[in-house]
Amino acid sequence: MADKRIIAVVGATGAQGGGLVRAILSDASSGFAARAITRDVTSDTAKELAKLGAEVVATDVFDLESLKKAFQGAYGAFCVTFFWAHFSPEKEFAQAKAMATAAKHTGLKHVIWSTLEDTRKWVPLSDSRMPTLMGKYKVPHLDAKGEADQVFTELGVPTTFLLTSFYWENLIYFGMGPKKGPDGKLAITYPMGDKKLPGIAAEDIGKCALGIFKKGREFIGKTVGVAGEHLTGAQMAAALTKAMNQEVRYNDVPPEVYRSFGFPGAEDLGNMFQFKRDFQQVFCGARNPDVARSLNPSLQTFERWLAQNKSRIPLD
Ligand SMILES: NC(=O)c1ccc[n+]([C@@H]2O[C@H](COP(=O)([O-])OP(=O)(O)OC[C@H]3O[C@@H](n4cnc5c(N)ncnc54)[C@H](OP(=O)(O)O)[C@@H]3O)[C@@H](O)[C@H]2O)c1
Repeated sequence: MADKRIIAVVGATGAQGGGLVRAILSDASSGFAARAITRDVTSDTAKELAKLGAEVVATDVFDLESLKKAFQGAYGAFCVTFFWAHFSPEKEFAQAKAMATAAKHTGLKHVIWSTLEDTRKWVPLSDSRMPTLMGKYKVPHLDAKGEADQVFTELGVPTTFLLTSFYWENLIYFGMGPKKGPDGKLAITYPMGDKKLPGIAAEDIGKCALGIFKKGREFIGKTVGVAGEHLTGAQMAAALTKAMNQEVRYNDVPPEVYRSFGFPGAEDLGNMFQFKRDFQQVFCGARNPDVARSLNPSLQTFERWLAQNKSRIPLD
């Protein structure tokens, strides 16, 4: 343990960070040790990580001084922000800035920043094809992440910019799984037309991140996108039909209809899907499953993920 290089992992009790902590702990030959960052070291998940061999430290990413302590003595850090905890792009940017500042202060050698596209580079605020939200964003939960890239660069933090994909776990936890329509038939509803949605098993993001830390230098200053597979809504529905042994249809709705669904974040997600639909080449092109597989040879396809997880998808 003492001679291992420490990776401080933000969001260690969550999807991305948790995947990385478990990947580090289950790869004794990686040369890395995991420092799990959580606000509550007494939670069941935090205790479980400690039992598996992680060093668990209490930190709130809004608190710069506690972040600096959490990064002190580490070789690297995995940085992720939590848009859906507060729905504020400004807070998300502030979290990213605090992490970049702490990384610079502590002289980390390699940081992975879990980012996404600032969609305003492709859809400026003046573009009326999708509404401007919160005054100055097109896709608030993407734009502020992309905007924060420059903070890591300007501070001179040795960073890999990791572009993640739609978690297939959204079908379990995020209300995006099959639902019964008025006809009693199950359907998944995404405003993607016939375009492909890059998706990934959430734990594979952490495994890819470990691959990036292992390769080290060659990835510093680079942007790397990861996905398990690119699938159309129809292909996802066909895979769900096969796995669940009952018909699941793909319900393609216009983005404006999706935006009007009224649940918290519906407009943001409607714009997100529209961006992925209208800029498929940009979005899919940045996320090559072959690259992800080279970082993480056990990368799952949707079919394989479904075989493991189909019973966890709630069917109402
Ligand atoms: N869902 C998707 O398809 C998808 C795809 C790509 C990117 N993303 C992005 O992923 C990000 C979230 O990552 P995730 O899914 O890995 O998160 P997650 O599973 O929701 O978990 C995040 C963890 O971070 C911790 N946390 C929350 N606020 C914190 C704070 N202020 N200080 C320190 N720790 C805090 C919490 O742990 P404790 O309670 O233990 O502190 C929580 O367990 C979002 O910004 C989202 O936009 C999501």
